[in-house]
Amino acid sequence: MKLEEIIKKDKKYYMNTFGDRVRVCFTHGKGILLYDTEGNEYYDFFAGIAVSALGHSHPVLVNSICEQAKKLIHCSSLYYIEQQANLAELIVNNSCADRIFFANSGAEANEGAIKLARLYFKKKGLSEKYEIITLDNSFHGRTLATIAATGQEKYQKPYSPLTPKFSKVPINDVSALEKAINENTCAVMLEPIQGESGVNPTTAEYMQAVRELCDKKEILLIFDEVQCGLGRTGKLFGYQHYGVEPDIFTLAKALAGGFPIGALCAKEHVANAFEPGDHGSTFGGNPLACSAGLAVLSTIINENLSDNAAEMGNYFFERMESVKKDFPIIKEVRGKGLMIGVEFNRPIAKSVNEKLFEKKYLLGTSGENILRILPPLIVTRNDMDGLINVLVEVLKDIN
Ligand SMILES: Cc1ncc(COP(=O)(O)O)c(C=O)c1O
Repeated sequence: MKLEEIIKKDKKYYMNTFGDRVRVCFTHGKGILLYDTEGNEYYDFFAGIAVSALGHSHPVLVNSICEQAKKLIHCSSLYYIEQQANLAELIVNNSCADRIFFANSGAEANEGAIKLARLYFKKKGLSEKYEIITLDNSFHGRTLATIAATGQEKYQKPYSPLTPKFSKVPINDVSALEKAINENTCAVMLEPIQGESGVNPTTAEYMQAVRELCDKKEILLIFDEVQCGLGRTGKLFGYQHYGVEPDIFTLAKALAGGFPIGALCAKEHVANAFEPGDHGSTFGGNPLACSAGLAVLSTIINENLSDNAAEMGNYFFERMESVKKDFPIIKEVRGKGLMIGVEFNRPIAKSVNEKLFEKKYLLGTSGENILRILPPLIVTRNDMDGLINVLVEVLKDIN
């Protein structure tokens, strides 16, 4: 089908939650490249918003999905599932978690984290501990509880009254957090590096102070690693940059390279609060999703893709130092590994992004001033050079 026909059909039949989308429809991809209905080739530096960690059509992932689909796509978690047990083991063996529960998305994994934190205290007889403190400008998902956890009014406004008992504090402000904790607080939940709101990293001092505070006040620490987890920041998990471990963390996005999955990961004493019947999911942890997850996670680990993310990120940051000198319109280049934000002094991010698209480079934006870069973890130095060259061309045009 040609693009115009697809757009017409979409406008007629699909709910209008995305407005005018970028005028392109992709048919297939290979590695970092994507191809559209009109035969154009694009460099994908957004990876479906940090999802396609292995790039497109990675043979290990494709084979794993095809082979598993031929055998068994789904069976209920009423029964034991080999792939589910194996993927849980692989996450546990490579992280600070002791037990895993599989969901179908990041928001759903976060819902699980919120439920688990509340239940943990309820089962200790502390039913009054149900409030969760999150950060301004955070993003935790689109379900009712996770938009209440999210620290951005634009996502919340249409759905007020919000699910109660979530409060917000500014990022990297220990005393604000300390003041916000009260006798009803059960947990602090945060993204080690905020993604959606424009790549805002927490500092190591802050994270260490937050961990100490949570220990002192006997409340739980939850990290939302839906975007920053799984190698993206140059380490397998974002928390590994900070020398602190959460009690609970969540994963999704890259875990099965685009096949829907989410993971709720917790330390033993916390995970034990979930007893039979307390939580569940029809699709969560099915054989197909877990096979895809096993393929992706084992490839990220075995091929040291976290190291590649660190190396390519450092290369980009180094090269952008001189670009920044030539283009003072760039205010800051920030992030870790391949979770990168380029902030401009003026609201030009959308027009820079449009011009990059015209040059067949796919990136994202946050607000009016920030360009977001989230390439597949297999990106090469050549690919990064290509991006920097087109970015320089675009900035020359805009200047
Ligand atoms: C940090 C974070 N948490 C949660 C979510 C929600 O994940 P999903 O869209 O899979 O529900 C996102 C999505 O962008 C995210 O970046």
